[in-house]
Amino acid sequence: MTYTAVLVPGDGIGPEVAAAACEILKAAGAPISWITHQAGVAALEAGEKDLLPQSTIDAIQKHRVALKGPCTTPVGGGFSSVNVAMRKKLDLYGAVRPVRSLDGVTTRFSNVDLVVVRENTEGLYAGIENEITKGVVTSMKVATRDACLRIADFAFRYAVHRKRRKVSVFHKANIMKLSDGMFIRCAREVREAKFPQIEYEELIIDAACMKLVQDPTKFDVLLMENLYGDVLSDLCAGLVGGLGVVPGANLGEHAAIFEAVHGSAPDIAGKGIANPLAITMSAVMMLNYIAETHSDTALAATATRIRDAYNRALVDGCKTRDLGGSLGTREFASAVIERL
Ligand code: NAI
Repeated sequence: MTYTAVLVPGDGIGPEVAAAACEILKAAGAPISWITHQAGVAALEAGEKDLLPQSTIDAIQKHRVALKGPCTTPVGGGFSSVNVAMRKKLDLYGAVRPVRSLDGVTTRFSNVDLVVVRENTEGLYAGIENEITKGVVTSMKVATRDACLRIADFAFRYAVHRKRRKVSVFHKANIMKLSDGMFIRCAREVREAKFPQIEYEELIIDAACMKLVQDPTKFDVLLMENLYGDVLSDLCAGLVGGLGVVPGANLGEHAAIFEAVHGSAPDIAGKGIANPLAITMSAVMMLNYIAETHSDTALAATATRIRDAYNRALVDGCKTRDLGGSLGTREFASAVIERL
């Protein structure tokens, strides 16, 4: 059985790391047939009229799974985020970012194993901003009961499915009493009605961040709204070695896009030194997702082989510069392939 998946290389380091991940999957014999579609600045450079061409959305809708590189969003002006638009258009409401310590990557903590679950469609990311009058700007934070219930249900289902023990909601409901207030009430409601066996806690996000950096091993599944999830994902990446080692999935009922937490890293783009591990890990998540959907044990075994190979590569000291090593993107990919 061969599965078709959409490849969106993205901008900056995106094409470099995506190519390395595809090379690893190919060498492992993963039965994936890629259809490449563009998004971001890369789409315009390829002659498309839009940053997010309808053909890209259509392809993901049709094939249901995509591996995506990061897309650049200009700071303080210019066009809106292609990534946010993509998640909204495809209703990929649940972002899952597993954050785990890796053998061979030395950090302050050696046994971090947590998952950030981020609501992916609303909050301040609704992108509703107005300059009411000169010098006065409002940004609207949107929270709907439906979306709050939906992401809470998603997080608890994930916890049960993955045999996780606890869900911690990070919030600021002391200040945003209505929006964050509803977010925690919905989480509480879902837990009480359907998941009483899962341990549950609500933490005000500022103090929660302090606790997280003091001892991340106390945490398991972290549930939060969009902006908090964005910030916390990078913070958590910092606990296990950085953005080069944290994968992610954006999941909805009808499609899934797998992408690293990191961005297009313009500071190192084109130099061949970016770490392709995060997108490779995202690709492994994609293989496992397809394997589960199709009950394909052989594909799950291929995913495990890739994971074992990159874990071994790290233990053997094969590392890119962000992890203190000296390998380039392609060299790291070759080191993984040698260990398949
Ligand atoms: P960034 O994640 O691109 O880079 C932050 C730092 O981490 C940089 O020093 C970079 O060199 C390093 N880094 C990131 N990924 C790396 C990798 N794989 N290997 C080695 N080093 C790596 O974040 P930044 O600079 O804030 O954003 C750059 C652009 O990316 C912006 O336009 C932003 O909007 C976009 N972005 C896109 C995302 C997406 O497509 N999902 C997610 C985050 C940012």
